[in-house]
Amino acid sequence: MQQSLFEPEGGKEALASGAAVLRGFAAKRESALLAAIRAIEARSPFRHMVTPGGFEMSVAMTNCGTAGWVTDRAGYRYQSTDPVSGKPWPALPATFLDLADEAATAAGHPGFVPDACLINRYEPGTRLSLHQDKDEADYAHPIVSVSLGLPANFQFGGPKRSDPVRRVALEHGDVVVWGGPSRLFHHGVLTLKNGEHPMTGARRFNLTLRRAL
Ligand code: SIN
Ligand code: FE2
Repeated sequence: MQQSLFEPEGGKEALASGAAVLRGFAAKRESALLAAIRAIEARSPFRHMVTPGGFEMSVAMTNCGTAGWVTDRAGYRYQSTDPVSGKPWPALPATFLDLADEAATAAGHPGFVPDACLINRYEPGTRLSLHQDKDEADYAHPIVSVSLGLPANFQFGGPKRSDPVRRVALEHGDVVVWGGPSRLFHHGVLTLKNGEHPMTGARRFNLTLRRAL
């Protein structure tokens, strides 16, 4: 069956069952989102976490919300305090909550209320290898992923690591949502290319809004 994956009215591209790319969905909030990231990093700075296997991640990370995703030699988990500051993570800004709800609804997952947001900072040469988001308590909730700054090639595979992977070019303001049948699908980000973005310089930020607890 041949079917158009692009619906011009909403700029929504189906990726898999339960998964969609919402083109430019976050664009009108770009200034508020970037200001919120600056406020968060002033209290919980970006840091390079270490995998349980002892490798330092090339992507720098921080969090906001009642729980934050961390990794160290002890494993992957969510925790309520930032191990760097020793304090609770900064609260989820209203602009993140509103965007998460609207994007999830647009992608067919209404009523999404995240309690955690992992913030990734990519510089040219950094990448995020194929993985599943599976440290959350309940997979009934979707993931809402917001791209800001430099473009990236996002990979979206399937339930098995060896499943074929689609490559999706993500631009500033694009939002990807996956949930339901594709909630545990593998995904990653290919090595970021050199570039300069008018709002972020030589960086890409990604917000992944989750319901962790
Ligand atoms: C992630 O899987 O945590 C981030 C995905 C992205 O940066 O687009
Ligand atoms: Fe992820």
